Amino acid sequence: MTDKKVAIITGASTGIGKAAAIKFAKEGYITAIIARRNIDKVGDEIRKMGCECFDFAGDVSVEEDVKKMVGEVDKRYGRVDVLNCNAGVVVVKPVEDITYDEFINVSKINVGGMFLFTKYVVPIMKRRKKGSIINLGSVSGHVGQTEHAVYGATKAGCLSFTRAIAWELAPWNIRVNSVSPGSVDTPMLVGDCEGEAKRRGVPYEVIKKEREEEQAFKKWGTPEEIAGPIYFLASDEASFITGADLLVDGGWVAK
Ligand SMILES: NC(=O)c1ccc[n+]([C@@H]2O[C@H](COP(=O)([O-])OP(=O)(O)OC[C@H]3O[C@@H](n4cnc5c(N)ncnc54)[C@H](O)[C@@H]3O)[C@@H](O)[C@H]2O)c1
Repeated sequence: MTDKKVAIITGASTGIGKAAAIKFAKEGYITAIIARRNIDKVGDEIRKMGCECFDFAGDVSVEEDVKKMVGEVDKRYGRVDVLNCNAGVVVVKPVEDITYDEFINVSKINVGGMFLFTKYVVPIMKRRKKGSIINLGSVSGHVGQTEHAVYGATKAGCLSFTRAIAWELAPWNIRVNSVSPGSVDTPMLVGDCEGEAKRRGVPYEVIKKEREEEQAFKKWGTPEEIAGPIYFLASDEASFITGADLLVDGGWVAK
């Protein structure tokens, strides 16, 4: 077993997951990262920093992929200290335009991926009686966000999964928390706003401005501003925090 701490980060090819992977690497963790595409590029970037990184191209909603990746991490390193479930997709449309296939796909990735990683990582954490799991919620799991009904339902699912698992795993000293971002400047949010601009027939900048106004700071957060709080929840500084959701939303939900 390695002496170094090991963090698994899902959905680490872009956005918040990539920023989290780089943060954990900088803090001395061995990182194990997964996404469907381009994950080797992030792996190369982290290895160029002089840090060990295991990158795996796979789908978090496919059980065989998750089992294979987690099994390989266990074989290589013998421990998992942190699991950060970031991988997610969004569908933004009026509810009557969302297809059942889209509903299944978003649910499978956002809730199913988190479930599968938890299922396969928990036995490894239980062996060492220590671990920290951080799931990605969203303001959409807290407030009614227009045209985000299905996405919001999956994020509320992340929050209640987090709370239940926190109680279930506390006897093994495994803490489980979530981070709920507001608008963060990532390919997901940009794509989401581009889609809305097209549907409403208005320039992208108009939508961007509207979405910025939802934060008290009148701007979007950066992926690094989410990665920091994820790292805090993973660290021993948060040793008495479990079952909590940390809103990192520039004040959105406080309004
Ligand atoms: N950006 C925001 O404003 C925002 C706000 C609230 C919550 N979130 C949540 O934060 C998380 C990260 O989002 P982001 O904004 O960085 O998005 P992003 O699109 O930049 O990154 C999503 C990552 O998930 C990966 N992914 C998607 N489906 C996958 C699958 N089936 N298997 C493996 N990997 C998959 C993508 O490849 C990518 O690496 C998501 O859970 C998202 O719901 C984002």
